[in-house]
Amino acid sequence: MRWDATRRGVFATRISSRNPARLNTTAAVNVCLQCHSQGQLLNNPINGKYYDWPVGFEVGKDLDRFWKLEEHKLGEQSFTHFADGTARKNRMQGNDFVPSAMYTHGIACTAVMMYTEQRTTLNC
Ligand code: HEC
Repeated sequence: MRWDATRRGVFATRISSRNPARLNTTAAVNVCLQCHSQGQLLNNPINGKYYDWPVGFEVGKDLDRFWKLEEHKLGEQSFTHFADGTARKNRMQGNDFVPSAMYTHGIACTAVMMYTEQRTTLNC
């Protein structure tokens, strides 16, 4: 797959330590969303330092115990979102995916990836 160890180095180590295909949809999607989303760490600051990623999250844990997706008001453009609610920054696939019909119908990022890889257009 595209995000294998040879291309992703240290990132891949964390991803491949559990196979997302064997997790339930939310847990599988959380594997990708820990990096592919914009949000706030719930327990900021930690020892006086502010972090921009879900510190303490591990695959299999509930991401929403560590991380809150960036909020958005429909009709207003923000730093992270366009007025129509779509992502304005890089690596925000999670912010787009979680409210989507794909996710609410139980489809995980990995399924979308396999489908799109076959069609050569990539957009989790
Ligand atoms: C530890 C952080 C991290 C996790 C977890 C993670 N990604 Fe990524 N991903 C990145 C970063 C950073 C980039 C951009 C850098 C790059 O392209 O090398 C990226 C790039 C991508 C790309 C861009 C296409 C490409 O090949 O360059 C895709 C698609 C992708 N990730 C899918 C996923 C999926 C699906 C998952 C869950 C199975 C996932 N990622 C989990 C950090 C992560």
